[in-house]
Amino acid sequence: MRDSLAPLQWEKGELWILDQRKLPAREVWIQCHTYKTVAEAIETLAVRGAPLIGIAAAYGAALAAQQKDATRESIMEAIERLRQTRPTGHNLFHDLAQMEHVVNQRGGRLAEKVLAEARRIHAEDMARCEAIAGHGVGLMEEGEQVLTYCNTGALATGGIGTALGVIRKGFLEKKVSHVFVCETRPLAQGARLTLWELVRLKIPCTVICDNMAAALMGTDEIQRVLVGADRIARNGDTINKIGTYMLALLAAYHEIPFHVAAPSTTMDLSIGSAEEMEIEERDSWELIRGVPGLARLQGYDVWNPAFDITPAGLIQSFITERGIEEPPFA
Ligand code: MRU
Repeated sequence: MRDSLAPLQWEKGELWILDQRKLPAREVWIQCHTYKTVAEAIETLAVRGAPLIGIAAAYGAALAAQQKDATRESIMEAIERLRQTRPTGHNLFHDLAQMEHVVNQRGGRLAEKVLAEARRIHAEDMARCEAIAGHGVGLMEEGEQVLTYCNTGALATGGIGTALGVIRKGFLEKKVSHVFVCETRPLAQGARLTLWELVRLKIPCTVICDNMAAALMGTDEIQRVLVGADRIARNGDTINKIGTYMLALLAAYHEIPFHVAAPSTTMDLSIGSAEEMEIEERDSWELIRGVPGLARLQGYDVWNPAFDITPAGLIQSFITERGIEEPPFA
């Protein structure tokens, strides 16, 4: 039986990916022999969450490197294909740049050093999650009720998670007493994945529809909002799951601290503000299938951006592995 809170597992030259599309109903594992299967898993959201996507892609490159006829060029081709899978999350590009660097280094056996680099990227993300959790918990008072969004836990990272890692550690240290989880439409990463993690960890939790967040904040039940990030610009503008911006506005109105927890590998210091970034738009079907009968109706358009931009001014602080940070980032 595999540990499903470790959704990427390298075993005897193969990568096993927990298929997150099937959760929470079933735990199904995808066996990957080639980088192409990994690329498809990223595109179809079988594996998702900015840090985990980067790690999966790194292992994808390792699979390319261990093919019998592998050359520098064939691994570079695989890296290029993996880079095309999702445009917004920064970790994918950060981690693949590191893989590329190792492939280009002279000396050593290609397959071995590429796999070693993928493992190193995985282990480093795990360590960053622990450090983020430690710093985040330092911000909290005893017994807080917190609100979170999307999934930022073990299913989204190489370790215990970013925002959800803070919550997990906070619960162990009695800083967190209850977690409210937004459903996170259209793909319900909150209701399907975060709840699944919280239930397994026996952390008391309540799911709400996304449109209940204002009413919940108005009850004074929430002491803090913690979310993750897919890409953070130098000025602190943060791209995260669509709906994050709405939560940040609501938190500001209700004077509830709103924090972004993310590893430094999510920061893109090459962009001054998030306006410079491409926001992934996904297939309309993802939204339509969530509403019974909608597929039969004709004559309307669908807008389905996967992410939105929260302006830096709405974010109280950034929790990274280095500590509590404020923009501009250098
Ligand atoms: O489309 P997804 O499910 O990959 O989006 C995930 C998010 O937006 C997460 O909040 C983000 O990647 C941070 S995960 C630590």
